Amino acid sequence: MKKVKIALLGLGNVGRGVWKILNSNKEEIMKRSGYEVEVAKILVRDKNKERGFEVPKEILTTSFNDIIEDDSIKIVIEVIGGIEPAREYMLEAMKRKKHIVTANKMLLATGGDELFERADKEGVMFLYEASVAGGIPIINGINESLTANKVERLYGIVNGTTNYILTKMDQDGLDFNDVLKEAQEKGYAEADPTSDIEGYDSQYKLAILSSLAFGTKIRVQDVYREGITKIESIDIEYAKEFKKVIKLLAVVKDNYGSLDLRVHPTMISETHPLANVNDAFNAVLIRGNAVGDLMFYGKGAGDLPTGSAVVSDIVSILRNNIDIYNLNPVVKNNLWEKEFYDINEIDSKYYIRLTVEDKVGVLGEITSIFGDMNVSLRSVIQKGLEIKNENKVTLVLVTHICKEGNVRKALEKVAKLDSLYKINNLIRMEDFE
Ligand code: NAP
Ligand code: HSE
Repeated sequence: MKKVKIALLGLGNVGRGVWKILNSNKEEIMKRSGYEVEVAKILVRDKNKERGFEVPKEILTTSFNDIIEDDSIKIVIEVIGGIEPAREYMLEAMKRKKHIVTANKMLLATGGDELFERADKEGVMFLYEASVAGGIPIINGINESLTANKVERLYGIVNGTTNYILTKMDQDGLDFNDVLKEAQEKGYAEADPTSDIEGYDSQYKLAILSSLAFGTKIRVQDVYREGITKIESIDIEYAKEFKKVIKLLAVVKDNYGSLDLRVHPTMISETHPLANVNDAFNAVLIRGNAVGDLMFYGKGAGDLPTGSAVVSDIVSILRNNIDIYNLNPVVKNNLWEKEFYDINEIDSKYYIRLTVEDKVGVLGEITSIFGDMNVSLRSVIQKGLEIKNENKVTLVLVTHICKEGNVRKALEKVAKLDSLYKINNLIRMEDFE
């Protein structure tokens, strides 16, 4: 049996998953790849940290030089996260002809071009299955299995942390911050969970997926983004009344060459398959013009699911001859030029929640503003004095399909009314048509 040495950069949630799988599934990996894999070095910040599992102290290092200068190490696994030093380490390792596996969606989405170009130049393999949707083989699915198709639509629940939070708020009525803490303890959240709850993590993942699915360069700023921090239990209750659930949805629609790319909380029918993707599970629904609708489902975060994707990339590299370079050209994402929609140009249905003064004429004033802006209202709900001991009521409006720009202009006018206390929320509704 041939032997190969690899190195891990990072031994946190994902690093731990990779380490555990390489040990527990040693025989499967050996038979499938033709190699016995030895983890020769693991780069960490603190060698003395209590990690809760066995790892030989002598392979831990705090010096990247120990890895870069060891020519017997053929593959480097980057699971540190963030931009620097992850970027510099990967570029340097490629220069030394080491193949790379990474789970770093932030770096891929914001500075991926430089890494792809370096990998191409050095002829090394650069794989990143774990960067989107944890254990789900979605990158390979798009890059290998869907190449016969023009992709028309892609909808994804691609962040485990926010899906866990929304599920627990919906099903158990739990508080946002308590559930976020649980998601952090379970190893789903990013080092800075703002990335999860404000939608940045989903934005990075959508930029990566759609670059590959649509063969075009997509910058993070081409993807409109909103997180889940404005969702309150009252929105979840209203969604239930409408037989809907709220999900942080990543959406991309190709409308005659223009891409409508966005990440935001979305009300979807409770009977749609994506509505039943709960906890830290992820799912990606892709509509191809030949294959029709396909849905990929599985665990989107956590040590072992993510480790599974990383280790599968290691096996892919080993199945090639690791000492011959240029075997696997980098997948190109500059095949077509596309236009991108501004959020004001999109068409959608909307749920709008306002807090207004409870007095004669308010409802008429507000509905006529929406009418003037060509926004047709499907329903208006005011249930009485929901805010106790104050002369305030909650008003919920649901629109028919209309231009977002018109809804925003109407809300600007509503915001100026003396009877308006607060525009609490605007949530898009998706019918998947
Ligand atoms: P993590 O738990 O914070 O672990 C980071 C690891 O990197 C730690 O072991 C840390 O060392 C080490 N590290 C950080 N900065 C370092 C530096 N400057 N030099 C040397 N070592 C350094 O992160 P994670 O959750 O495993 O995530 C890692 C990557 O995978 C990120 O890109 C993340 O977005 C991605 N990802 C995570 C998941 C998930 O479910 N968590 C899923 C998919 C992708 P110490 O242990 O000594 O502190
Ligand atoms: N923080 C990410 C999530 C990890 O919650 O989905 C997986 O990429």
